Amino acid sequence: MTAAGQSTEKYRLSAEDVVVRFGGVVACNGVSLGVPPRSTVGLIGPNGAGKSTLFSVLSGLRRPSAGRVYLDGNDVTEATPQARVRQGLGRTFQHPEVFAEMSVREHLVVADRVREGTRRIWTDLLTGRGLFSPKNPGEDERVDSLMDSLGLGGVAHASVGSLPLGMLRLVELGRALAAQPSVLLLDEPSSGLDTGETADVVHVLRQMVAEHGVSLLLVEHDVALVMDLCDYIYVLDFGSLIAQGTPADIRQDPAVRSAYLGTETEAIDIQPPGASPDKETV
Ligand SMILES: Nc1ncnc2c1ncn2[C@@H]1O[C@H](COP(=O)(O)OP(=O)(O)OP(=O)(O)O)[C@@H](O)[C@H]1O
Ligand SMILES: [Mg+2]
Repeated sequence: MTAAGQSTEKYRLSAEDVVVRFGGVVACNGVSLGVPPRSTVGLIGPNGAGKSTLFSVLSGLRRPSAGRVYLDGNDVTEATPQARVRQGLGRTFQHPEVFAEMSVREHLVVADRVREGTRRIWTDLLTGRGLFSPKNPGEDERVDSLMDSLGLGGVAHASVGSLPLGMLRLVELGRALAAQPSVLLLDEPSSGLDTGETADVVHVLRQMVAEHGVSLLLVEHDVALVMDLCDYIYVLDFGSLIAQGTPADIRQDPAVRSAYLGTETEAIDIQPPGASPDKETV
């Protein structure tokens, strides 16, 4: 059972009482959350709240000091990142992890071959070996269609080292989606993107949930985007969950306003999407 009192089986991905300490800093202080099937869940909080640390625990890059992680009801706390990927867990990083010499298309091709079970993504990206394996049936069509939907068609053959940050985020997202995950962790997917690129990303993410039944867990500073996209939101502050609920609940929560904004005056309202022409970030 999670702290919310719900069984881990009802979630694609869940964390139960996760604790991470860095010396005297408690980056996660008994955090429990769950991502139901076919849903978009937000994880928000001020800088240093522990969001990326929790992502590292969920994806297996960091072992928690205490607590458990479940994927489709199975305890994966001790499982490697690679084992979690094979069980359908994908992620993108706050600071994109891409391979400068490889082209945009090559990143997606290798990920597609991994999904087909023929290659191993990190080894293949490091060595470039995945590119020399035989093509999978339908690979060209899947990769081209994914690049088009992310607006990357025009830079298909560019080395990713020559691209701006916004495009690197799209390459990372494309690579994660090409592996066809059932749960996808996204660490600040809109950071560095312009309005048009953000709209493309939102469109693709909605499609992944609606048409492919993917579940998303999203860390994001763009509050309007989170409110618009998420069914449910968790709020972290100094490593502890201070609120959780629907976007409407979160918008009205005094603790959230206080943690984000340092005060609770009406003058600094957390607006619903579309209420302000400015991109609202915290
Ligand atoms: N490898 C590390 N070693 C020591 N302290 C760390 C390490 N990684 C994170 N921390 C600390 O843990 C806390 C949580 O950091 P984390 O990066 O998870 O926050 P975050 O919510 O992702 O912040 P941001 O919104 O700025 O990305 C911070 O106090 C940070 O300084
Ligand atoms: Mg972070």
